[in-house]
Amino acid sequence: MNELTIRPRADDHMQGCVQALATVHATDRYPVDWPVDPEGWLTPRSMLGAWVAVDSSAVLGHLVLARPGEALALAVGLPSRRLVSVTRLFVSAGARRRGVAARLLDKAIAVAAADGLRPVLEVEAGAAAAINLYERAGWRCVGTSAADWTTADGRVARMRSYVAPSGHRT
Ligand SMILES: CC(C)(COP(=O)(O)OP(=O)(O)OC[C@H]1O[C@@H](n2cnc3c(N)ncnc32)[C@H](O)[C@@H]1OP(=O)(O)O)[C@@H](O)C(=O)NCCC(=O)NCCS
Repeated sequence: MNELTIRPRADDHMQGCVQALATVHATDRYPVDWPVDPEGWLTPRSMLGAWVAVDSSAVLGHLVLARPGEALALAVGLPSRRLVSVTRLFVSAGARRRGVAARLLDKAIAVAAADGLRPVLEVEAGAAAAINLYERAGWRCVGTSAADWTTADGRVARMRSYVAPSGHRT
């Protein structure tokens, strides 16, 4: 991996984002079902901004900041206007355990802090790597809930809600 940079996602990153997502779907079944419109899946209606981790030749990672849903705000116990949701976070299968996701999360926290917002997120309870990533970075689990979809191994998904550490800045 050459030098890694975190950049706002641009239109010419989209093809690389979809290619990286394809490796993640093949390896982790994230997302469980391959979307009909991958670029649309990477661009949810609630999106406020998106960032990519790139080296000189490829998109290695991706993250979206979005307006949180009311259920997540309720789980966190703060008004949704004070929160921002981290979603669509992934790192391509060949670029793991090199700090790419940690760098993307740091960027998200810095962007949120600049707007006076607290980052929150939901993660499926079986996503061990992601849960380890968040908990090691000091995110706090504030609750769990059943989701309305089924995991690749046939369980009803259980979502864990997390809030970023307060006052965390990079
Ligand atoms: C979760 C994910 C984004 C982590 O990406 P990554 O770039 O490999 O993570 P990092 O290298 O920044 O890891 C930082 C820390 O997170 C933890 N971590 C990351 N991957 C882990 C794994 N497979 N097992 C255990 N801990 C892990 C470790 O504490 C790690 O630090 P260390 O490598 O010094 O031990 C990646 O595995 C992925 O894309 N998974 C599939 C998609 C997904 O689950 N997205 C989250 C949806 S909520």
